[in-house]
Amino acid sequence: MRLSLGRLAAIVSVGCVFAFSATLLKSQTATPPAASAPAVNNTPGDEWPAGDGKATFLQICSNCHSPENVIGKNLSSDGWTDLLNRMIQFGATGSDDQFSAILDYLSTNFGPAPPKININKATAMNLRNWIGMAQKQAEALVAYRTAHGDFKTLDDVKQVPGIDTKLLDSVKDSLTF
Ligand code: HEC
Repeated sequence: MRLSLGRLAAIVSVGCVFAFSATLLKSQTATPPAASAPAVNNTPGDEWPAGDGKATFLQICSNCHSPENVIGKNLSSDGWTDLLNRMIQFGATGSDDQFSAILDYLSTNFGPAPPKININKATAMNLRNWIGMAQKQAEALVAYRTAHGDFKTLDDVKQVPGIDTKLLDSVKDSLTF
């Protein structure tokens, strides 16, 4: 579903009225982000999925908090639309096109978890987003898989150093190999 731009525009126009004074202050003092360089210092291995809206997302959604806030929400398009409207009320600014691009990016990459997750294909971000695995563990899992080849059983996955075996047990019915 596409963002309802009419609704969005209406909210944009009243957005400042509702913005907290603290966020207003912040938006007045913040340096405008450079179009080509998102104001985000990604940690190594923290690969945001590629996609059209990525740069816009990182630019606009890093102004008040870490863009990592979106990880693990697993919202539908409608859910992301509501959330973006909420951010606009808090003072997030951008054009309709930019918010549309962000909506597409989030709906495509941070939608609800699929019923089955292939543990041999999942990226570290997938593991964080869909099953709530901590970043270090997700990175360790991918590194281990790269070094040792595909996992065949849950017990193989449990060999990853430092992995949360309780978490794995709790999601085992959603994992495929
Ligand atoms: C002007 C400041 C501002 C900008 C820009 C901003 N946010 Fe937020 N965001 C907030 C505030 C304030 C909260 C905490 C209040 C809340 O959770 O409702 C928040 C919370 C969140 C949360 C957690 C909400 C929850 O329900 O747990 C998510 C997810 C989020 N923002 C996503 C985004 C995205 C995506 C963007 C880019 C479009 C964005 N934010 C841009 C101010 C902002």
